[in-house]
Amino acid sequence: MPERVRRCFAEHHRGPTPGVFFAPGRINLIGAHLDYSGGDVMPLAVDLGVYVAARTNADGRLRLRSLDQEVVVDVPVAALGERRDPDHGWASYPLGVLRIFRDETGVGGGVDLVFGGDLPMASGMSSSAAIEVATAFALDALHDTGLDALALARIAHRAETDYVHVQCGIMDQFASALARPGHALLLHCHDATFEHVEMRGSGFEILVMDSRKPRMLANSAFNERVRECREAHEILRRHARDLPYLAAYQAADLERAGDALTGKHRMRARHVIEEMVRVRRAVQALREGDVAAFGAMLTESHRSTSIHYEVSCEELDALTSLACEQPGVFGARLTGAGFGGCAIALIEPGTARGVEAPVAAAFTARFGVEPRFMVLHAGGGPRRIE
Ligand code: GLA
Repeated sequence: MPERVRRCFAEHHRGPTPGVFFAPGRINLIGAHLDYSGGDVMPLAVDLGVYVAARTNADGRLRLRSLDQEVVVDVPVAALGERRDPDHGWASYPLGVLRIFRDETGVGGGVDLVFGGDLPMASGMSSSAAIEVATAFALDALHDTGLDALALARIAHRAETDYVHVQCGIMDQFASALARPGHALLLHCHDATFEHVEMRGSGFEILVMDSRKPRMLANSAFNERVRECREAHEILRRHARDLPYLAAYQAADLERAGDALTGKHRMRARHVIEEMVRVRRAVQALREGDVAAFGAMLTESHRSTSIHYEVSCEELDALTSLACEQPGVFGARLTGAGFGGCAIALIEPGTARGVEAPVAAAFTARFGVEPRFMVLHAGGGPRRIE
């Protein structure tokens, strides 16, 4: 892939060889839809991601293309507006980073970028965050601005919220920018503090199961969940007690709020509060090497995401429950925003083939689509490819 982006760059741009930079995608082990409610999440970067060949230019233009997308952008730097232009499609993510990077560092100027990646697109593994972090990392290297990983994560995240206008939490960009090989990231989203949790020798492998169902309307449904959680927090502040973010509440607060908190608001708040407890238990189980307990938390997390948070779908429910029926599987859940895309299963090392075959057969018989499988490992963060 790095060779392919370099070659494509050479086909479209004369002059010196560009730098090639990489940023990983991520899966989320546990902490479903907690980041924008200030909760704890535990993602890990995978060994797949996005590559960008990048070079500054002297003619003040922003030229962006991708190996597998039709939209090509070629605009003057001055055309970079306040918010995304729908015609720019996928390129809104790197353009957002260019905008925020310029706001934060005062450094702009023309740049030529060619992207390619080996992550399945729009499948819940954060290809967009990988594009954003790869772009931020490349700009920092090209302009020698000396930003640290945390600053790059923040720029990448602001590109999404302030330019693309998806109200996502910080998880995806932080997971990509701060990754350490062989580790998961335990991220406390209310104050953006984090620790790396050792995964080597943890006694399981991660099997990604791609439903290949496109995430229809995912952005609008996602923003709707963000709004529902904000409203639920507001109700709890008035009718239970005044805490700074939704994930800080406890089960007793749901009782205290009584009839003021009903319907969707109660269901969303309940998921957030119970998922926080599950994350803590999962972290403890991981540290104690109790894979069975860790897996059980994942499976419960999926149930709640499906029932109380309503972001799953038949395909993801089927994949996870089929996986859990197989020997050697400790637990399974959807990963990412949901509404389609991928699920993960924690499996005993070396058992992937035995899990895949029966899951694929039953899934294909029911949905007429063959799911895709990958065993992935905790990879490192953004880097320059020599
Ligand atoms: C998407 C968002 C993240 C997070 C997850 C759900 O990936 O971009 O910020 O909210 O969904 O956990």
